[in-house]
Amino acid sequence: MNYQTIEVDSSIGPVGATITGVDLATPLTKKNLQEIHAAWLKHHVLFFHEQYLTPMQQANFASLFGTLDVYPFANAVDAHPNVIPIIKEPEDTNNFGGGWHTDTSYVEQPPKATILQAIEIPEEGGDTLYADANLAYLELSDGIKQTLEGLTGIYSANLVHGAGGTYAKVAAPGRGNTSYNKNLQAAALEVEHPLIRCHDETGIRSIYCNKFHTHRIKGWTREESLPIFDFLVKHLIQERFVTRFKWKKGSLAMWDNRCLFHNPVNDYPGKRRHMHRVIVQGDKPA
Ligand code: SIN
Repeated sequence: MNYQTIEVDSSIGPVGATITGVDLATPLTKKNLQEIHAAWLKHHVLFFHEQYLTPMQQANFASLFGTLDVYPFANAVDAHPNVIPIIKEPEDTNNFGGGWHTDTSYVEQPPKATILQAIEIPEEGGDTLYADANLAYLELSDGIKQTLEGLTGIYSANLVHGAGGTYAKVAAPGRGNTSYNKNLQAAALEVEHPLIRCHDETGIRSIYCNKFHTHRIKGWTREESLPIFDFLVKHLIQERFVTRFKWKKGSLAMWDNRCLFHNPVNDYPGKRRHMHRVIVQGDKPA
């Protein structure tokens, strides 16, 4: 595509592109928006630098792509009901979202977009890894593709946010993160989504299940299902599918949860990392 209002540089890695030439704090033209949307669909994750958006500006930018969603396990910042703080304090051991996943896949209509801005970043570490779940799907054999296409997953937040979940055991993701909202009712819900999903805007197919948010394959036990989830993630995180993004204060990433996995690296003990996150509602995966 020939972009006229933004510069798009996809040399960062196998997935994603760095966008320059646009100030997200100012009103975007229709052409700006069309080009950002087109680049996002093509590259799955867009990286911007030096944006420094207020919560209201970040939410306004996100709302250009759809209705803002409410994340069930965190309280918002005071300035905006859809912006959540993601903080790891120096004394915390656990980080929010640590492990390969797509966001909130355990709800009926998981968010299509996540827009994350860096407020404070450690000098070293704290990168986020992104893996192209469409490319990884395309490189599976026809045999396993056919098997997976027929399978439904039982998705639930219980493994992470339930009473015996990962976060319950360590108090909360980032124990200093006072915004954490223990919501056992939301954690107990189970929904059905395919293991492989189709992108509702582009039609591409991608690996969707993961062992943190998919409890089991429908009709299978957790124990029987885990080797499949483990195999798929091992396949997905091969170097040829993964881009590492190094944050700076004011960096902003906008990713497509329908075709991309991510994993924030927890390698900065004793340091603080502070982000603001907004999610945009998606359709029921099909
Ligand atoms: C998330 O999983 O949404 C958080 C990602 C990050 O902190 O880099």
